[in-house]
Amino acid sequence: MPSTSFTVNGKPVALGADPDTPLLDVLRNHLGLFGTKFGCGVEQCGCCMVLIEGSAVKSCGQAVSTVAGKAVTTIEGLGTRDNPHPLQQAFLDEQAGQCGYCLAGILISAKALLDENPAPTRREIALALDGNICRCGSHARIIRAARSTAHMRAGAPR
Ligand code: FES
Ligand code: FES
Repeated sequence: MPSTSFTVNGKPVALGADPDTPLLDVLRNHLGLFGTKFGCGVEQCGCCMVLIEGSAVKSCGQAVSTVAGKAVTTIEGLGTRDNPHPLQQAFLDEQAGQCGYCLAGILISAKALLDENPAPTRREIALALDGNICRCGSHARIIRAARSTAHMRAGAPR
């Protein structure tokens, strides 16, 4: 079986998995990165989002062969419990979530947005998160947390 080489959270990996294996399965089953969640498996819910070269992508619909030579970032690469990413801290501060199942994907989508557009409007945040479903209905707090991160970075009042 040919191997696929790429980086995950800055670390090089080389895997002999079937090239058609969904990236989500490789992350969870081969690399033990369980932060990225399986929801629908058909690119509808967004809870499997990861960054590929900085863009938010649904990893359930991405064959591992397509990330050869690329940089993949999962939720584990954003921050740690002791040193959370500002988005993670804002989500905690706003209590933006209930069960939390959607949040890894939402944080990844929000990070991709803020990296590209550091001062998004509420509408731009809502549009960027359009591919992420939160079954608990925490959207208002999620958007508030993303806005608060953007305002904090810009040094502007909320
Ligand atoms: S598990 Fe990938 S979009 Fe739902
Ligand atoms: S917090 Fe439960 S699905 Fe979003």
